[in-house]
Amino acid sequence: MKQKILVLATSFLDEMITHPKEEGKAKQMLDQLANSSNGQIEIEYRCGRYPGAPLQAEEFKDVTAVIADLEQYDREFLSRVSKNGGGSLGIISRYGIGCTSVDLDAATEFGVIVANAPGCNALPTAEWTQSTIMDVAGRRILQYNTASAGKSKEGPSRLDITGKTLGVIGTGTIGKYVVKLMKGYDVNILAYDIYPDHQWANDNNARYTSLEEICSNADIITLHASSSEVIIGHGEIDLMKPTTLLVNCARGILVDNRAVYKAVKNEKIWGYGLDEIWTEKDLSLDGLNIIVSSHVGSDSDMGKIGMQVMSAEAVVDYMSGKAPKHLVNQEVINK
Ligand SMILES: NC(=O)c1ccc[n+]([C@@H]2O[C@H](COP(=O)([O-])OP(=O)(O)OC[C@H]3O[C@@H](n4cnc5c(N)ncnc54)[C@H](O)[C@@H]3O)[C@@H](O)[C@H]2O)c1
Repeated sequence: MKQKILVLATSFLDEMITHPKEEGKAKQMLDQLANSSNGQIEIEYRCGRYPGAPLQAEEFKDVTAVIADLEQYDREFLSRVSKNGGGSLGIISRYGIGCTSVDLDAATEFGVIVANAPGCNALPTAEWTQSTIMDVAGRRILQYNTASAGKSKEGPSRLDITGKTLGVIGTGTIGKYVVKLMKGYDVNILAYDIYPDHQWANDNNARYTSLEEICSNADIITLHASSSEVIIGHGEIDLMKPTTLLVNCARGILVDNRAVYKAVKNEKIWGYGLDEIWTEKDLSLDGLNIIVSSHVGSDSDMGKIGMQVMSAEAVVDYMSGKAPKHLVNQEVINK
């Protein structure tokens, strides 16, 4: 029976500006698989598909494997397209690390392997976090607005970073890289994680503490938690200082946008950096020290090379009868 690999990851075929030799490597891996299958495997690239659009079962006709962006794989959809449900899908290879777009319990129940691409986007995202910290501290967007309008400096001077207290919420791969990069500024490190890594804290002179202490005492607060719930809301912001700068290069959901907006506007905190599209259309960012970007933290050449190759490897492994290296729902194999 013919099998189809569907590629929905939007930047899977992107050009590599700084690493042209790596360009096309992942596509070559899939092409090789198709070429050696005597016409049994077909690859369909639909990288232009908007990940926010709900999936339709018809798009997955004969699809065995998908290289997935952030489109939602819910129970209802999986029951219709999975091999143990009404279709042929056997693997969702996430182009990235997060898998909140997939109902993992349902995937396991319907026999769909979920693999991801951990690690490769961590350093690029940490670099982006560091630059966002600097830009919020320096009120970069406001500086740009005045200078580009031919005006001289307006508003307060920028904040220094050196010697300040850095509060890291979520000390997984990216949080740890951020600490590594920020050490050059001689920062004191406070950390909060629901699963603290005490060995790492000892080795890096970091001190785990409560979320409340971080909000009250840190000068720079940066979020790197893999949670799908709000961590910073009105209560936490109330604890912060007028010079606190808050950065969220993890997930939009972690911070209550409306609460942080009010705080920046009323000069309750210094500023906010968010690596997500601003969804509060009624709240204009004009003239405020709030910097937003379209979730581009990992969107560097190296980040993309890693995600392209790792997501393709998982599919090649699966189609060759091997378990992919980075399984998210191991239970599906043991079933
Ligand atoms: N901006 C981007 O382009 C980009 C790219 C990659 C990852 N991310 C996001 O960055 C975040 C970190 O990624 P990672 O690779 O370091 O993940 P990770 O799994 O290595 O680390 C996440 C850490 O968060 C901790 N955590 C979970 N819930 C928490 C909570 N409620 N409070 C405190 N700590 C909590 C976990 O214990 C873990 O140590 C994730 O949210 C991920 O989605 C963003």
